[in-house]
Amino acid sequence: MQLTKSSYAELTPPGRGYVTDLLKPGETLDVLETFGFAVTRSPLTTVSKAEAHREMGTIRADFGLGEPYVPLLYRDRDAPSVTEVTRKGDSDHPVFHTCAAQGWHTDGLLEDIGTIRTTLLYCVSPARRGGRTSLLNTGRVFGELRTEDPEAADVLLRGTILGRRSTLPGVEREAVGPVFAGLGDGNYATRYGEGQVEHWYPGDAAERAALDRALRYFRDRRADPDVRVDLLLRAGECLIFRNDVLAHSREDFTDDPRHPRLLLRSLHINAPELTP
Ligand SMILES: [Fe+2]
Repeated sequence: MQLTKSSYAELTPPGRGYVTDLLKPGETLDVLETFGFAVTRSPLTTVSKAEAHREMGTIRADFGLGEPYVPLLYRDRDAPSVTEVTRKGDSDHPVFHTCAAQGWHTDGLLEDIGTIRTTLLYCVSPARRGGRTSLLNTGRVFGELRTEDPEAADVLLRGTILGRRSTLPGVEREAVGPVFAGLGDGNYATRYGEGQVEHWYPGDAAERAALDRALRYFRDRRADPDVRVDLLLRAGECLIFRNDVLAHSREDFTDDPRHPRLLLRSLHINAPELTP
């Protein structure tokens, strides 16, 4: 799949125009190539966890995503390749198993920039309130910053500017890399984030000042619906998005204790393309 600069001119399709029929992968791919994300809708009226896993398998096959990728952070933790994102009182995971908001990030804390190209988030059961997933067109914001403040933008391209450090108890690992890297087609891969895991390494005072301007620019721009979309997934909907070019975040939520929010997540090193 080729993403051109013009294909990211707009992040937000009108209404719920990003929702397509699970059984029409051609339409889904059109939406994906235009916006960097799409949401498939199950043909079933109610979806069990087993059916959700089966439909995720269909999506993997339709778009050539291959088997789910297990991130480096979880390799030695006996983690399943499809993660259940749901509130669990006894878990030590700082994000997956809480109902707290999650700041802007890209998936793959320890991976090199651009490694995890696709994330699937399948909604088995939504929250009683909240839990929206937001997507940010970071490449477009970066393009604007390059025009308005090239010195600030350059700092984000530096290969040692951003460390991302695990917040899992007992796991002391950090990966350092750039925030943006050109993909050679006018788009930029990103590992932009601002939350608990980021550690910034400006080389001197001038770079520190430029970095502060860059981060402030993103903070100001990321509320703008021109570059951001907020999605509330319904049961049976699966969000497919380009994790290498869009950042994402999660709103906090409140569960119905009888039907807690449950999302299934898988990560992939392939970008979606139609398989014959
Ligand atoms: Fe995530």
